[in-house]
Amino acid sequence: MQHLLGLPQYQQRIDQYLINALDNIAVNDQQLHDAMRYGLLIGGKRMRPFLAYITGESLGASIEDIDGVAAAIECIHAYSLLHDDLPAMDDDDLRRGKPTCHKAFDEATAILAGDSLQTLAFDILVNHPFSEQVKRKQLTLMKLLVDAAGYQGMCGGQALDLSATDSCITLAALEQLHHLKTGALLQAAVLMAAECAPNVTTDEKQALKEYAQHVGLAYQVRDDIIDITSSEEELGKPTGSDLEANKSTYPSLLGLQGAQQKADDLFQQSLQALRRLPYNTQNLSDFATFIIQRTS
Ligand code: IPE
Ligand code: IPE
Ligand code: MG
Ligand code: MG
Ligand code: MG
Repeated sequence: MQHLLGLPQYQQRIDQYLINALDNIAVNDQQLHDAMRYGLLIGGKRMRPFLAYITGESLGASIEDIDGVAAAIECIHAYSLLHDDLPAMDDDDLRRGKPTCHKAFDEATAILAGDSLQTLAFDILVNHPFSEQVKRKQLTLMKLLVDAAGYQGMCGGQALDLSATDSCITLAALEQLHHLKTGALLQAAVLMAAECAPNVTTDEKQALKEYAQHVGLAYQVRDDIIDITSSEEELGKPTGSDLEANKSTYPSLLGLQGAQQKADDLFQQSLQALRRLPYNTQNLSDFATFIIQRTS
């Protein structure tokens, strides 16, 4: 993976938090618990937690408050991947260099592990020892995550993705689909971290939201590009699976070059949004650069 300042430290930090979270839940069914560990702890770039940490860092939030936000978002992300790989959805056999959860266990267990990781996200938001200042925002945090994860966010986007499969959709429809299935959760990482900061104004939150929308869309555009250009070894998940499944993607609508141009345009727009912020946002612009260049 390309270099991104602070990434290994934050990856270690969130991994330790998630290990503890799973160690501390009551185990009713060993296989379900094992599948939750498998889905949450084995690999993953931890990009959404990283984005929450660097947003919090830029805005002066406490890192301990961001831990709760970052962990909750990563649980939603992990659950979304377990379900995304199922035969009824993308039907993929490899994830993070290992058999997908339904291959390593079985379909029913992968479905339940996904369900359980989703509720673990809210368990964390409810029970994390947030500071007094952030405790007052717990309902706001909850609402941001609900909106990003549910039918008005990621699940809605996944539904649009399935209905756009095997059909030709407009660019506007593709953009909406990507915003929801991938952008919404990345946007939540930024906005939830911003809620943890002491003095963020409405205008600043709006600029952060626009930054996150551009970066979130670019994340999926790049994911669609590397599905074609990368190798299975490098990605740890199957390549060519969008083509094989006849998915609607930016490369399928605009070609590879057009798709990368779209990612580059989004990058420029994300930098414009950052310029409206009176903080040191170098780490956020580095993140945007990383996103549009990533190869895995
Ligand atoms: C993959 O997400 C699915 C998308 C929304 C593009 P990531 O590329 O963040 O996957 P991991 O968590 O690093 O495996
Ligand atoms: C991911 O889109 C969207 C999710 C909400 C999981 P993809 O289906 O392109 O993700 P990968 O390529 O399988 O990781
Ligand atoms: Mg998918
Ligand atoms: Mg998929
Ligand atoms: Mg993909």
